[in-house]
Amino acid sequence: MYRKIIPVLWLLSLGAQSRELKFPKGFKLGVATASYQIEGGWKADGKGPSVWDALTHDHPELIADHQTGDVACDSYHLWKDDITNLKNMKVDHYRFSLSWPRILPSGFSNVINPEGVKYYNNLIDGLIANKIEPMVTLFHWDLPQNLQNLGGWTNPLIADYFADFAKVAFKLFGDRVKYWITINEPASICVDVYEYDIGAPAFVRSPGIGTYLCGKTILLAHAKAFRLYDSEFRAAQKGKVGITIDSTWGEPKTNRSQDVEAAEREMQFGLGWWAHPIFSPQGDYPEVMKTVIAQNSKSENFSESRLPRLSPDEVKLIQGTFDFFGLNHYHTWLISDKKFPVGTSPSFIKDKGTEVSANPDWKPSPKIVPWGFRKLLNWVKKEYNNPLVIVTENGYGDAGGLDDKARVLFLKDFMEALLLAVLDDGCNVNGYTVWSIMDNMEWRSGYTVKFGLFDVNFTDPRRPRTPKTSAQFYQTVIKTRTLPEK
Ligand SMILES: *[C@@H]1O[C@H](CO)[C@@H](O)[C@H](O)[C@H]1NC(C)=O
Ligand SMILES: *[C@@H]1O[C@H](CO)[C@@H](O)[C@H](O)[C@H]1NC(C)=O
Ligand SMILES: *[C@@H]1O[C@H](CO)[C@@H](O)[C@H](O)[C@H]1NC(C)=O
Repeated sequence: MYRKIIPVLWLLSLGAQSRELKFPKGFKLGVATASYQIEGGWKADGKGPSVWDALTHDHPELIADHQTGDVACDSYHLWKDDITNLKNMKVDHYRFSLSWPRILPSGFSNVINPEGVKYYNNLIDGLIANKIEPMVTLFHWDLPQNLQNLGGWTNPLIADYFADFAKVAFKLFGDRVKYWITINEPASICVDVYEYDIGAPAFVRSPGIGTYLCGKTILLAHAKAFRLYDSEFRAAQKGKVGITIDSTWGEPKTNRSQDVEAAEREMQFGLGWWAHPIFSPQGDYPEVMKTVIAQNSKSENFSESRLPRLSPDEVKLIQGTFDFFGLNHYHTWLISDKKFPVGTSPSFIKDKGTEVSANPDWKPSPKIVPWGFRKLLNWVKKEYNNPLVIVTENGYGDAGGLDDKARVLFLKDFMEALLLAVLDDGCNVNGYTVWSIMDNMEWRSGYTVKFGLFDVNFTDPRRPRTPKTSAQFYQTVIKTRTLPEK
């Protein structure tokens, strides 16, 4: 760990052993969810099917517990309970996502489902009545199945359909919603679906090809929605628009220059792929991605680079499309250099040329490393000229239970790492969002992994929510704006 504080403060902090860490004035503390993971009501009142409805219905064997999100936390009906819990926690903001096919059942903006609109109006109005800032994600993975049938995110036209959807959302809700996140975790969409086949839809693997086609469409979709907000809504609505990018921290496994470079490559392929085109003054993909993928494509005898080129106009369209940088973070990994033999079958992994492992000695557990979070925040600061960052997700998964001491420790350690990055390192972060307010449908893991501050009883048709120890802990942090001393 490194400290950049003036010597007097440093001595004081040594003398005191521990130091009271206070959140700066105006720092926002909140919680997050996503539509598919909590809403249920999968075909209620005219909602169209999403890729997650199709996957869980057609291939239950691909979900750890063979369950679906048909009911999930039933927030489609129990949104008032959610607001009560959020109000009792006194969170500053609630990050939730819109189900695209609930609002536009076919994916296209020619038909709007009034019942879907009413649901989100109720939720937004309820939040505002309780002084909770709504932070709305437009796309958190539940693509209308109808658009997947046209190729999903590998079809460049989806960027335009997404902008149409964004326009409907800005028009309907933008008078009250002032924080918009266009797309949640681009890598989890493109890499999980096209590289690893661990997302939805299933069975469309296209390693090293579909992965990058999807990436280009996502970047353009984000940029088109942002530009649309600029040209048609910003003046009247005065909100902020950003994208949420997930990133691990890649720590070099050794100090050999190959491994240090590999760790940097891991960051550029993982985070830079999305952030460099948007947040860097040069725009476009990171140089290392362009060079490596072009070289590999050539040795594999492709006629051109598998990384689809961004034209100068596209580079310009994407560059600078942010009011803030939404960052999700969970894990730190050790990274070492790895050379793959030249062949004809490409992949993202071969392009990246790294090996990822966990360090069994790390505390509190391999890959859960608070100082990695601090290093990540510093990397974003250095790489993109210290943009305004909102941490839009951070949290801890376990097997469930009300007395979740490990989650309390996790939250304390990660908020401490964040505050050191802000107070000592000068990172420009003004929000932190716990994933998640309650246990929910964890994608292909079903209900086997729990991230909630509240327990949900999924065998009870009323889906009661019960606060865990961590809910009380976070409530106290929000109230005191201070982390308890060790
Ligand atoms: C790399 O060097 C730094 C600074 O000298 C040191 O703190 C760190 O422990 C070294 N890391 C490894 C994996 O050897
Ligand atoms: C690419 O094509 C050249 C020329 O036909 C051939 O010699 C080479 O083995 C091919 N590369 C691969 C990876 O198959
Ligand atoms: C969950 O709900 C079911 C059905 O009402 C009930 O039988 C069970 O005891 C509940 N579980 C817990 C842990 O409260």
